Amino acid sequence: MEVFSARPAPKLLPQYGRREVVQSFGWWRCIGASGFMVHFPWAFQSLRSRHMAERVIGIDLGTTNSCVAVLEGATPSVIANRGGYKTTPSVVAMSESGKRLVGHIAKRQAVTNAENTAWAVKRLIGRPWTSPAVQAVKAAVPYPLVEGPHGDVRIRLRDQVFSVPEISAYVLQEMRAIAEEYLGQTLSKAVVTVPAYFNDGQRQATKDAGRIAGLDVIRIINEPTAAALAYGFGKKIDGKIVVFDLGGGTFDVSILDITNGVFEVVATAGDTFLGGEDYDKRLVDWLVQGFAKEHKVDLRSDTMALQRLKDAAEKAKCDLSAVRETEINLPFIISTGRNQAFHLHRVVTRSKLEELTLDLTERTIQICRLTMEDAGITPEDLSEVVLVGGMTRMCKVQELVGEFFGREPCKGVHPDEVVAMGASIQGAALVDAAAAPDMLLLDVTPHSLGIMVAGGHFHRLIERNTTVPTAKSHIFTTVRDDQTSVKIVVFQGESDRAEENELLGEFVLSGLRKATKGEVEVEVTFEISADGIVSVSAQDMETGAEQSITVTATSSLTEGEIARMATENQDHMVAARAEEEVEKERQRIEKLVDEAETLLPKVEEILAGTPFGEDSLDNVRLILDDARMAVERRDAGGLEQVAEPLLRTLNMFRGVVDSGRTRSS
Ligand SMILES: Nc1ncnc2c1ncn2[C@@H]1O[C@H](COP(=O)(O)OP(=O)(O)OP(=O)(O)O)[C@@H](O)[C@H]1O
Ligand SMILES: [Mg+2]
Repeated sequence: MEVFSARPAPKLLPQYGRREVVQSFGWWRCIGASGFMVHFPWAFQSLRSRHMAERVIGIDLGTTNSCVAVLEGATPSVIANRGGYKTTPSVVAMSESGKRLVGHIAKRQAVTNAENTAWAVKRLIGRPWTSPAVQAVKAAVPYPLVEGPHGDVRIRLRDQVFSVPEISAYVLQEMRAIAEEYLGQTLSKAVVTVPAYFNDGQRQATKDAGRIAGLDVIRIINEPTAAALAYGFGKKIDGKIVVFDLGGGTFDVSILDITNGVFEVVATAGDTFLGGEDYDKRLVDWLVQGFAKEHKVDLRSDTMALQRLKDAAEKAKCDLSAVRETEINLPFIISTGRNQAFHLHRVVTRSKLEELTLDLTERTIQICRLTMEDAGITPEDLSEVVLVGGMTRMCKVQELVGEFFGREPCKGVHPDEVVAMGASIQGAALVDAAAAPDMLLLDVTPHSLGIMVAGGHFHRLIERNTTVPTAKSHIFTTVRDDQTSVKIVVFQGESDRAEENELLGEFVLSGLRKATKGEVEVEVTFEISADGIVSVSAQDMETGAEQSITVTATSSLTEGEIARMATENQDHMVAARAEEEVEKERQRIEKLVDEAETLLPKVEEILAGTPFGEDSLDNVRLILDDARMAVERRDAGGLEQVAEPLLRTLNMFRGVVDSGRTRSS
């Protein structure tokens, strides 16, 4: 790999630097080093233009469940789906008939269609195929993962192969549909949350998911930060708080300093592969081992059995947050083919679950300890510990968190809904400063950003926990005579060895003047946006010529692929909507035919021997036959053709039956 030399003292761009933010996208103004707030420029917009601002929804795209909220007046409201649930499973399936299913309907059919039901895909998003996390997921899920054309991960559902952002896009789309139905308007803008510890690739991929869903993701914000915003919204809070967020797939901890409405993240850390899924797996493994010991049968050999086991384990885990003991009862869990069916019956106690998962819970505490040290904060400095994520309902988690921070954690927020609520507040504030006056968010980058230099070392350019958006520039020189290009390899992480960190991508600066080594200077500027996404630009110091550079993570989707997937998705949605319309019409016509067929004998009786002859009745019967056929064939054209004559016939039938009744009474 080609290396180059980096000047020893990288200089800060004059307009950037820690706590000397910002002016990146126009909606933030400068924050002084003392941290006081300068108002949003839009606060002075006319009232009229404010009212015209488009509504922005906040979406918590979770590993297990997703949630959507919108700011209504001064209240963030979580929107329930059609079934009345405020969270929707992040599950996507392909039915036998090739229909795409999302949410509860997909989760419910998982047991009988496990190979074609994708869940917990957030654990895969933005990760390269070779990453240990991907290989761990591959071994644990019943749906097939395949390597994509860029060393990325793809998911096969029936005969179709999807990228991970596509699957996430279907969930985002479902959340948007829930909001659109509730608000009765078309929505295109959203703030989407990600785990604070997500790296650039994972954030990029989440944004790609938004684009495939046809959503304008105006900001990506960190889940614990969103939770803090919702926690502090409309309250007078001053002091340092900790947000402990343990969800289905990820763990984050963030320390925030809240002063006069400024929410400043001081430090954040986490693990993007630690969550409820891991707790469930421990319980499943224990059940599988116990079953193998007792019956000498491996439940892992049967996908349906495993899916039932997973569902039962998760349910038992949740139950054990309320009771000390529960039963797992799965009759006919497996059959060995020798006409021998086995049943699984096991009692699980809370202490057994705690014992099986203690190291996982302890790991969250260890991460909290390191973050507190990083921020130079002791538990006494904190005024509140806020619990977020479904897994924080587990008693052991609450106990260890309470012990470590030396205080009862706050239970004042809804652990499943608070993240989406925070995203909706941020969304509203981004398009209308008056929606969240005197509230300002300063987040940080969770990982250090740097480049590989001679010897394979990692040269940090932006340290972790630096406030974003931020930028730093660095001057590079050639290392060989007549060198006309340099290759720059960008990493994110904390190891001093570059290759032990996450490779974000690489780019080549070309077109340099031929000269003696060290003579040509190029200033490269690395930026991290408020979304936490990295971009790079370069300038030839001699000519002033700018080079535009994109850091392309090798495993990310190309622009062309994203555009194609977005178009395919839109086509699918149009077709699905048309199908839905046909189904609605089919049901309507079916009801009309049912009624007409019920009335027909009576009509025949009343009209017998009247001038309305048998010929006319034959015609009417033909209309009913045509309508019945169109209903059975789900024939859109046929339904359209029969609708009017059928309605006329039915009205005539109703009239005849009514007049018959009047005559006989
Ligand atoms: N009462 C409970 N006791 C224990 N665990 C629970 C309880 N209720 C929910 N959980 C677990 O919480 C997890 C889901 O939490 P949540 O909905 O916050 O995650 P998520 O937002 O989907 O995931 P992430 O934030 O990690 O992407 C699941 O593992 C679920 O089993
Ligand atoms: Mg979550």
